[in-house]
Amino acid sequence: MIQPVRRIFVTGVAGMIGSNTARALLSHGHEVIGIDNFWRGTPANLKDLASNSRFTFRHADLISDEDWHRDMGAQDGLVHIADIVAGIGYVFSNEWQVFQRNLLINTRVARAVSERQPARFVYLGTACSYPQQMQRSVESSVLAERDKFPADPESGYGWSKLVGEIEFRLVTKNIPTRLDVLDLHNVYGWPCVYRNATAQVIPSLINKALTATDGRLHVWGDGKQGRAFVHVDDVADAIVRVLGYEGPESTFMIGPGHCTTIAEVARLIQQHPGVRIQEIVFDTSKPTGDIGRFADAGLAARELGWQPRVDFRSGLHVLIDRVIEDRG
Ligand SMILES: NC(=O)c1ccc[n+]([C@@H]2O[C@H](COP(=O)([O-])OP(=O)(O)OC[C@H]3O[C@@H](n4cnc5c(N)ncnc54)[C@H](O)[C@@H]3O)[C@@H](O)[C@H]2O)c1
Repeated sequence: MIQPVRRIFVTGVAGMIGSNTARALLSHGHEVIGIDNFWRGTPANLKDLASNSRFTFRHADLISDEDWHRDMGAQDGLVHIADIVAGIGYVFSNEWQVFQRNLLINTRVARAVSERQPARFVYLGTACSYPQQMQRSVESSVLAERDKFPADPESGYGWSKLVGEIEFRLVTKNIPTRLDVLDLHNVYGWPCVYRNATAQVIPSLINKALTATDGRLHVWGDGKQGRAFVHVDDVADAIVRVLGYEGPESTFMIGPGHCTTIAEVARLIQQHPGVRIQEIVFDTSKPTGDIGRFADAGLAARELGWQPRVDFRSGLHVLIDRVIEDRG
């Protein structure tokens, strides 16, 4: 494992994965310097971290502010989590903006890596960068690391994440920095955005279920589309593990080996005791995205000793508890 004294820079620290990653790294004895511009993450997500003497926060925009990496050294690590990520409605109505901002963020981070040459660099990629033809059915859409190329992602978001990876591979080619990429499936957990346009499918469904006034939960699409949902605690665990990894692989698929359909998610939400929904209604006029995908995480299991541990139903119900508490 990595030396406990290593200092890790975490971009996007105020977001869902970033804040939980910072917590996991601190609990392993590391020092964390977190960076965020609060585009989507919030100061409230960092409240419990502020009192930790090994945590420092830098309010900075990765695109326009070059000061965030001023003291990054050759012994440090960088976990690059920040980007524009959102639910499918937002991503498809703002495709160019999402693409452009992510390219800008990543190219600035690449420059920082080239100048500072940290010992370790972890980049979070996504299953959305994998070919759309492989995501056409719920039953047979298993994705493994080798499937990424030839590339044909469905959205500008998927392309932006992939172009970022290519730039990071180029920048680390001739410097001592080691790059590892974790390709994540759909991540859920607390804290998350659940009531604005950027909310992703699970928080958005939970919010709809909690605010429905007619006892009906309206679901986008026919509900048959599926995703491999992975809990944020499992993602933070994968990040901690890959930072200590010294082996030959450098891309890992992170997600469970099965798909859960959106209709099943809606039913599980309906079963929560705090939810009052009598009927689930499917709106086929709305976008659904890729039909299905799930992970062959065999490489992560073999090389990192990683496997998803949080049971989906329990993780989902705890998240609903947190949203209910947050709504007050
Ligand atoms: N959430 C998922 O389902 C999922 C799935 C696959 C991959 N990922 C990847 O995981 C990462 C984080 O996801 P998340 O769910 O935690 O998202 P999030 O939106 O909660 O966190 C991203 C953070 O980046 C910050 N940010 C955005 N632009 C910035 C900028 N210019 N400068 C500084 N900070 C900036 C946001 O304010 C936010 O706090 C992303 O790289 C995403 O592509 C997420």
